[in-house]
Amino acid sequence: MEINPSRITLRPYNLTDVDDLMLYAGDDQVTRHLRWNTLTSKDDALTFIKEVCIPHPWRRSICIDDRSIGFISVFPGSGEYMYKANIGYGVAPKYWGQGVATQALKIAVPQVFKDLPELVRLEAFVDIKNKASQRVLQKVGFQKEGLLRKYTFLKGRLIDFFVFSFLSTDFPPQCSS
Ligand SMILES: CC(C)(COP(=O)(O)OP(=O)(O)OC[C@H]1O[C@@H](n2cnc3c(N)ncnc32)[C@H](O)[C@@H]1OP(=O)(O)O)[C@@H](O)C(=O)NCCC(=O)NCCS
Repeated sequence: MEINPSRITLRPYNLTDVDDLMLYAGDDQVTRHLRWNTLTSKDDALTFIKEVCIPHPWRRSICIDDRSIGFISVFPGSGEYMYKANIGYGVAPKYWGQGVATQALKIAVPQVFKDLPELVRLEAFVDIKNKASQRVLQKVGFQKEGLLRKYTFLKGRLIDFFVFSFLSTDFPPQCSS
């Protein structure tokens, strides 16, 4: 059953998210699709919040009723690559299939383009086997652009990825009254 979208919010991380963070950053089912390794202790989680989440250029905690149950990260390019950024996300498995990631990305995408005024292209690279993530991107309005064969290593495996993008021009026109 879908979670009421009004309960889903995004906010920066706090040190008090440490226990909630372990629900997803401490779960191999989530991190196997991500570049970073599964956190194994509360100390690791605290360090991760201090050294990765808080200083990050654009990382938000996905919250239900203000409790952290997932994350969205956006890595903007620098210099001449400021026009593009890469998006990644994850949700604690107990909340999968309830519309959380879809609603969180629907909130995040316009906010990212607002916060990064140089941004033209937001892109996502998804393991071809990761059907849930592809479905989320499709529901949020990303375009599937193509297949990148044996594109990069992820957790020691050389993987085929689909690349998706959302452009600044993909927003529906604003109604004027
Ligand atoms: C990908 C992920 C964030 C999705 O989160 P979520 O909150 O469950 O996503 P939603 O509920 O909003 O949507 C999931 C959609 O995928 C569909 N789905 C799930 N598993 C699927 C599968 N094996 N095949 C096809 N569709 C699938 C769901 O049915 C749903 O679509 P629907 O609304 O049309 O029914 C979550 O699975 C996750 O954290 N995975 C591990 C980390 C990860 O893969 N991150 C992305 C890296 S690119």
